[in-house]
Amino acid sequence: MDLRLAGHAALVTGSSAGIGATIAETLADEGCDVLVHGRNAGAAAAVAEQVAARGVRAEVVLGDLTEPGIAEQVALTARDFGAHILVNNAGPFAEHDWESSRPSDWRAAFEGNVLPTVRVSQTLLPSLRAHGWGRVITIGSRAVRTPLPHMVTYSAAKAAVVNMTTSLARHLAGTGVTANCVSPGVIVTPSMYRMFEERSAEDDGRRGEPEGGPDEADLVAEYAPNPSGRLGRPSDIAAAVAYLASPLADYVNGIELRVDGGITGTP
Ligand SMILES: NC(=O)c1ccc[n+]([C@@H]2O[C@H](COP(=O)([O-])OP(=O)(O)OC[C@H]3O[C@@H](n4cnc5c(N)ncnc54)[C@H](OP(=O)(O)O)[C@@H]3O)[C@@H](O)[C@H]2O)c1
Repeated sequence: MDLRLAGHAALVTGSSAGIGATIAETLADEGCDVLVHGRNAGAAAAVAEQVAARGVRAEVVLGDLTEPGIAEQVALTARDFGAHILVNNAGPFAEHDWESSRPSDWRAAFEGNVLPTVRVSQTLLPSLRAHGWGRVITIGSRAVRTPLPHMVTYSAAKAAVVNMTTSLARHLAGTGVTANCVSPGVIVTPSMYRMFEERSAEDDGRRGEPEGGPDEADLVAEYAPNPSGRLGRPSDIAAAVAYLASPLADYVNGIELRVDGGITGTP
């Protein structure tokens, strides 16, 4: 199927690694120009090289989205790049529970997940409106529907992101700009895999068993029991984002698309 993304341009925040990098490459596979973003210059340049290898325009913009003024600068660079597709992907997670989480932990979760989405979107919206067509796609989490007791700040911040998707879609009524959210389940990115390996090694140490890489079936059982029976891959999320970014999704608006193997279930 031709997603009709050729000739469009996108900003993907946090695309120097992980899911964002795969989103950038998948959009490029569909002929979409991509502005790659991150903090690590070398990693962002490497992803931009992969994007450009697909024959589309690729540029890099760097900056920590939690620093004052940076989100706005990144968005203005995206406007000048001609981006009418915004993927708000950057969103750090951290482990905090109800008893020990401090106000600074709650602030960090919202400053990392909510405010960058607000600030980049607000700054880019005038050019999307003027263009009469655009996409704001924000990455949520399965933690929205199944809030995690060991990740309370992150779960609440991601719930806000879904809530904002609805209000933004309604705010943009009649403009040709849609706002949607994709909520991943447990996705095996290189950073997630490192965490699994560390925990598996710790468990082996406690049990006195020989070291070995984590087994996917064990990981599914421990972290993500779901009807699909496997962990998610960055390409699962990227495919959903590419569809929502496509003109074929013009009539899909204000939704949370859960790409989680069914872990959250539907009542
Ligand atoms: N992986 C999962 O299982 C999972 C599950 C549910 C939801 N999600 C969500 O999916 C999205 C991507 O997750 P991921 O696992 O791919 O993350 P990741 O592998 O840790 O990649 C994070 C990306 O975001 C960038 N980034 C992080 N904080 C930033 C900041 N303050 N300013 C600018 N860039 C920043 C990083 O840039 P640098 O590396 O260049 O600094 C990197 O490009 C996030 O919103 C996450 O919450 C992930």
